[in-house]
Amino acid sequence: MKPPHGAQFWKPAVPGVFPGHWGGLRPTMPGLLLLAAALLSSWAQLPAEASSWWSLAMNPVQRPEMFIIGAQPLCSQLPGLSPGQRKLCQLYQEHMVYIGEGAKMGIKECQYQFRQRRWNCSTVDDTSVFGRVMQIGSRETAFTYAVSAAGVVNAISRACREGELSTCGCSRTARPKDLPRDWLWGGCGDNVEYGYRFAKEFVDAREREKNFAKGSEEQGRVLMNLQNNEAGRRAVYKMADVACKCHGVSGSCSLKTCWLQLAEFRKVGDQLKEKYDSAAAMRITRKGKLELVNSRFNQPTLEDLVYVDPSPDYCLRNETTGSLGTQGRLCNKTSEGMDGCELMCCGRGYDQFKSVQVERCHCKFHWCCFVKCRKCTEVVDQHVCK
Ligand SMILES: *[C@@H]1O[C@H](CO)[C@@H](O)[C@H](O)[C@H]1NC(C)=O
Ligand SMILES: *[C@@H]1O[C@H](CO)[C@@H](O)[C@H](O)[C@H]1NC(C)=O
Ligand SMILES: *[C@@H]1O[C@H](CO)[C@@H](O)[C@H](O)[C@H]1NC(C)=O
Repeated sequence: MKPPHGAQFWKPAVPGVFPGHWGGLRPTMPGLLLLAAALLSSWAQLPAEASSWWSLAMNPVQRPEMFIIGAQPLCSQLPGLSPGQRKLCQLYQEHMVYIGEGAKMGIKECQYQFRQRRWNCSTVDDTSVFGRVMQIGSRETAFTYAVSAAGVVNAISRACREGELSTCGCSRTARPKDLPRDWLWGGCGDNVEYGYRFAKEFVDAREREKNFAKGSEEQGRVLMNLQNNEAGRRAVYKMADVACKCHGVSGSCSLKTCWLQLAEFRKVGDQLKEKYDSAAAMRITRKGKLELVNSRFNQPTLEDLVYVDPSPDYCLRNETTGSLGTQGRLCNKTSEGMDGCELMCCGRGYDQFKSVQVERCHCKFHWCCFVKCRKCTEVVDQHVCK
């Protein structure tokens, strides 16, 4: 599917579904006071706005129907929301479960993609979720923002299709022009248009509320986050494709019904990992725009990841940067890649130990119909970084 472009797209298909960029959220005077109070209290609790909506992934969001009307409202109990996100939570409470699922899916994918690297996308036990490393505007941070925004588009688009949300349903994407004429366009598709728009409002709200001086480092970081959020959303949008099902007399497939379907999230993760490898180093100009550090490189598109800070080496544990270090990590003695002991352990060396692995083996097929296996144990050498 083509990525969203043009002004048409940005208008909500259902009038009034979204408040639009601040349309419905423009702070009023008492609102401003509340906003200020919310900001102050969150500053008091956590250093440098470390808290994030990602924490919705850690504590499952309860479904709104479990809340008794008049009891403590859901949105004030959820940790990590910015004031604008809290407002969206109030307007779209039933979406919050899926935002949590999307964040969780993004984090899991991040951990899969980085399982063999020094920084392995591990989470820490507070509402910042990834710890202080996200305060560095690195490539790794860029990937994390993109993959979690992608997770939200994915989860919301699917929830629409499954009829879980009252403000959206099946995709309304027009029939693709190249679909063979006798195939039906009409199955219930994943609603990526809605998923994209909602994720944009929700995920970006946090960045849009910040008001840093033009050309400041902080503003550069806001632009970086917005660009990477967008790249993540677009990956899901672009990779959604037509899926079809056969009908017809005894599987003749004379008739097909087709609909729009999300790509497997693993494929989205693979794609974003490629974008991570080719991410562009940027800096903020005095006019408040991001520009390439090396002007000989190609200008990043809206689908590319960007970063503003070099990555730390993630070798040693460092409380200031939030790096966990690689001590105790498993490494592969024979690999020359990032998972090899040399690189993973940053030259500190490694310890060897024997571990017993249990596997299924000597599997036999029995008529009919099950497979019986035995358990085999094997002693293997493993290595961990010093
Ligand atoms: C932690 O990282 C900071 C910033 O890179 C560095 O200045 C500091 O020396 C490091 N601390 C330790 C204990 O390695
Ligand atoms: C990721 O690295 C951290 C710190 O080295 C380690 O504690 C954690 O177990 C690792 N996670 C995985 C899934 O390997
Ligand atoms: C270790 O690396 C080698 C070489 O890349 C590879 O063939 C092997 O499968 C790896 N072992 C594990 C346990 O990942």
